[in-house]
Amino acid sequence: MEKLITSPNKALITEAQIRARIRELGNQISIDYADQELVLVCVLRGATLFFADLAREISLPLRFEFLQISSYNNSTHPSKDIEFIHTGSDYIKHRNVLIVEDIIDTGHTLNFLLEHLKPLNPKSLKICTLLNKPSRRQVSVHIDYAGFEVPNVFLVGYGLDYAQMYRNLPYIAVIEPFTNSE
Ligand code: IMP
Ligand code: MG
Repeated sequence: MEKLITSPNKALITEAQIRARIRELGNQISIDYADQELVLVCVLRGATLFFADLAREISLPLRFEFLQISSYNNSTHPSKDIEFIHTGSDYIKHRNVLIVEDIIDTGHTLNFLLEHLKPLNPKSLKICTLLNKPSRRQVSVHIDYAGFEVPNVFLVGYGLDYAQMYRNLPYIAVIEPFTNSE
């Protein structure tokens, strides 16, 4: 059985820092889309906590949509096999769409997502990510709103997981992934 023999270090980004930054992002988004319709798209599962908190800082009548993408397969190594599960509704056509992501790392996931959504003819398509790890970028992607730039370390908490765990931490912490097979 695979046993975890590591645990997250103390917070790299605290709850208070996250809250303050999300308030700023929410204010900016509210100004940028003033008097317009906006669909907020949550990329499951990592963006859930960010999505819920960000939505409450945006003072517009939002629509919510959810999609699932998986590219990490329970490890810290990105796989090129990206899986895309679409909700199937016609929510994108002629609407302003803002994708809410947890972290942009290599850029492959976001690139893949944009390739799938652009042909659906959104009125506009923008990206909001809580974390940006530019040192790992392999595909260049344009990010419209970013919460924090982070170094090349593996992070957990506030939605981010290691082997599906630690998503519930209210802060963001560094973890050194290391497993022991017995
Ligand atoms: P990308 O395709 O390499 O940009 O990867 C994006 C996805 O990888 C994110 O949505 C996360 O699910 C995952 N990911 C990247 N870096 C981290 C990390 O430091 N901790 C947890 N998940 C990560
Ligand atoms: Mg993700």
